Amino acid sequence: DLNLKINDKGHVDIGGADATKLAEEYGTPLYVIDEDRIRDNYKRVFNAFTKYYSDFKILYACKANTNLSVMRILEEEGSCIDAVSPGEVFTSLKTGFSSDRILFTGNNVTNDELRYIDETGVRINLDSVSQLKRLAEIVDPEGYKISFRVNPMVGAGHHEHCITGGEMSKFGIKESEAVEVYKLAKNMGFEPVGMHTHIGSGILDPEPFKLATTVLMDIAGKVSQEADIDFEFLDLGGGLGIPYEPEENLLDIDPFAEEITGIFKSKLSEYGMDGTNKPSMYIEPGRYLVGDASVLLTRVNTVKNSYRKFIGVDSGFNTLLRPAMYGSYHHIVVANKANETSENGAKIEKVDVAGNVCESGDLFARDRPLPIIEEGDLLSIMNAGAYSFSMASQYNSRPRPAEILVKDGKSEIIRERETYDDLFRNQILPKRLEN
Ligand code: LLP
Repeated sequence: DLNLKINDKGHVDIGGADATKLAEEYGTPLYVIDEDRIRDNYKRVFNAFTKYYSDFKILYACKANTNLSVMRILEEEGSCIDAVSPGEVFTSLKTGFSSDRILFTGNNVTNDELRYIDETGVRINLDSVSQLKRLAEIVDPEGYKISFRVNPMVGAGHHEHCITGGEMSKFGIKESEAVEVYKLAKNMGFEPVGMHTHIGSGILDPEPFKLATTVLMDIAGKVSQEADIDFEFLDLGGGLGIPYEPEENLLDIDPFAEEITGIFKSKLSEYGMDGTNKPSMYIEPGRYLVGDASVLLTRVNTVKNSYRKFIGVDSGFNTLLRPAMYGSYHHIVVANKANETSENGAKIEKVDVAGNVCESGDLFARDRPLPIIEEGDLLSIMNAGAYSFSMASQYNSRPRPAEILVKDGKSEIIRERETYDDLFRNQILPKRLEN
């Protein structure tokens, strides 16, 4: 159930553009983003949830992809923002999101950062009592609206590193302390108006979300009663997965929305929070909105028959870290012969697709069944819209690639490929080392 389209030439198609032409025009490695797919993804989630609970907001977790054009597209769609750093707040403001559409959820935030967040006027979601106390010294707490991230002791995710609930997690305040912390904040003069949780990333199974929603609502209900809080919003976090493997299915968003909003509404009434000022419901998807809207195009330059068969390409984990970091599967299609599959009678062999970084772990795939690949073929690495460019680096002194936006078959460059000169940016050579 991947977002894979193949045109009548048998080439990978992205937003109506032929991948082989894009690679010729702009060079490789190249990130290609399909504008309409982002818009469709946004609308699919928004329509599903608002059908069951109208006071609903999507806060795009922009860490997934902070490209300015991607941000503008989601701004136009009406999205709000989940920002986790001052830089993401800055980027969001710069790309047209007003401060009331941005919620800052930081972790281990410094006083300088708290000052900056306060100046921007965005809303702040606190992660610890330390942050609360330090904020009280920086701002006048009287009537200052805040919320807290709570660890619901439920966690899920595609990899251990991507589970953010449970006792191993560094995020949020303890469930058992929630009432006390909200009381403390009130006593300090703050106005706590929200509660937030986020259990992890890359979750295709609705069950952990349902459980986390139930737990969060129970905590919120208890806090509302015992600390006398009127919640303006309850934020269920992100983590909605997308299929990376062809056998996986897209999260069926309509029944999912129905179930989550069902729990939300029944808990509101259970705790008497369903009066006229019912809280808004927020979710914070990152990957779901942008993940399947982009591919990474990379050219095969070397076919090597060593102890294994290696297909060597012109990008590596500097460009797309997820396989090396989490062992993540990214589907790979030979863009110039996408119809060569076993179903179509093509010869298939298992190969390792290797990047160009000088580390053995730099593999996009191990033992991947692919058609016979020749040097010069173009690979399309799918689902490269989330946590791909945003996690790219210049490791091995390789400039970061270009990004292209495609709409109605037309392509535009939205990020220039870095140059070798960019490798020296911001570096200062001490005088004594000159000559
Ligand atoms: N909200 C908060 C507070 C988060 O920390 C995250 C992700 C999200 C929302 C959005 O999660 P999403 O809907 O995109 O799953 N680099 C990893 C993913 C790390 C996610 C971190 N937090 C990866 O490549 O899989």
